[in-house]
Amino acid sequence: MLEHGAAPPATDPSPTPPPGRGIGARLMRRKPVDRLVAEGGLGEGGALRRSLSMWQLTMISIGATLGTGIFVVLGEATPLAGPAVAVSFVLAGLTALFSALSYAELAGAVPVSGSSYSYSYATMGELVAWICGWCLVLEYGVSVAAVAVGWGEYLNELLDGTIGVTIPASVSAPLGEGGLINLPALVVVLLAMVFLMGGAKESARINTAMVVVKIATLLLFCAIGFLGIKAGNYTPLAPLGVTGISAAAATLFFSYIGFDAASTAGEEAKNPKRDLPRAIMLSLLIVTVLYCLVALVAVGAMPWQDFEGTEAALARIMQDVTGDSFWSVVLAAGAVVAIASVVFAVLYGQTRILFAMSRDGLVPRVFARVDARTGAPRANTVIVSLFCGALAAFIPLGELANATSIGTLFAFALVNVAVVILRRTRPDMPRTFKVALFPVTPVLGFLFCAWMMVSLPGVTWAVFGAWMAVGLVFYFSYGYRRSRLAPSEK
Ligand code: ALA
Repeated sequence: MLEHGAAPPATDPSPTPPPGRGIGARLMRRKPVDRLVAEGGLGEGGALRRSLSMWQLTMISIGATLGTGIFVVLGEATPLAGPAVAVSFVLAGLTALFSALSYAELAGAVPVSGSSYSYSYATMGELVAWICGWCLVLEYGVSVAAVAVGWGEYLNELLDGTIGVTIPASVSAPLGEGGLINLPALVVVLLAMVFLMGGAKESARINTAMVVVKIATLLLFCAIGFLGIKAGNYTPLAPLGVTGISAAAATLFFSYIGFDAASTAGEEAKNPKRDLPRAIMLSLLIVTVLYCLVALVAVGAMPWQDFEGTEAALARIMQDVTGDSFWSVVLAAGAVVAIASVVFAVLYGQTRILFAMSRDGLVPRVFARVDARTGAPRANTVIVSLFCGALAAFIPLGELANATSIGTLFAFALVNVAVVILRRTRPDMPRTFKVALFPVTPVLGFLFCAWMMVSLPGVTWAVFGAWMAVGLVFYFSYGYRRSRLAPSEK
């Protein structure tokens, strides 16, 4: 492996600014693309293993994406937009699509595990990369905790429907929300940890099985819900106007978070340059089609006003249409698997992002330690899981969960900027996928992200600001001095 502070390959033609001692130069230091790629897979004491196919990468992205958004958040967004919630899904999907195109181009050109953190490091310098990585902790680490909490709710629904028992609030909610600890949320995170310890290949197998179950569940919902559609439920289509559609789109953006997860697997993919762009685009296509289908069926089968206050809207629709609680139990079981798979895949992504950041010296080296037997970053997996598990178990997530979306949008906005910069600084670099209609597409991607961000409430911005402040304190007290890009500056 490249040792601490090792020089980049001599052939590296990246226009990296010469190392400087001034603060500005240090904050702007960029990691050359070729060095990023050359270090791919290398960790402390071992290397990650390249074992993932295009299909498995697609499943990782779908695994990280399809869950709480469609099973829970759809019910919250429908009262904002009315039957036009399907249009909101398309709008949120467009935001995701423009950014997905940028992700695909960068993942094909810089096939490493750090996702947008690494792309920012190569193009905009260390401070922006750190900010991006810190946003990714919101996108991945904090959302794992938020999603795990949603899992507990569906688990209760399932237990109630099958054995007539629910987990008491004292052990299924944190302090401040009527309980002491959210045990189910902790359990699902720890289960995911155990499976992830087996390494990428093993994890991908489990993930694929869970993804198949959740897609089947949603298709079953569409088939049954279709029988209950009443044309009258679609009118008026947009009772709350464009503002309602846009507010619902901002809320539903959460459901698309995760399509970029394949880009955290760049160093475990068999053929990352070819497969990462394909996996990102394919997963987004599959989830968008599913979301729109489910939304159209759901608002056709149940008047939009009835979604207000309904926690498990899809399960209720199944029951109403069939008159049999069996089908709502089947749906709840599918949701339990679906949401567990999001926890699993997102946790995987978080460990790999921290792996990349650790290799760069911006977070402690323990995150880059690789187990020689499994090829998994085991210590990293344990630390991240305990952190996310504790968040899920003890903290009422409320606004922090909303902040997941704003952090993600910020990271996506940076990816759109990174595509433009890399085209200018490395125009001849081989790219297996190129954004069409450049530069219009990344500019639109950036603008869509900005639009979604301003549609989020003020309190979410306040939480985001506080999160960033903590991140900057951490950077200046740790990564700024320990970065591996500037060995002579320490
Ligand atoms: N997109 C993920 C979900 O909906 C976070 O659960």
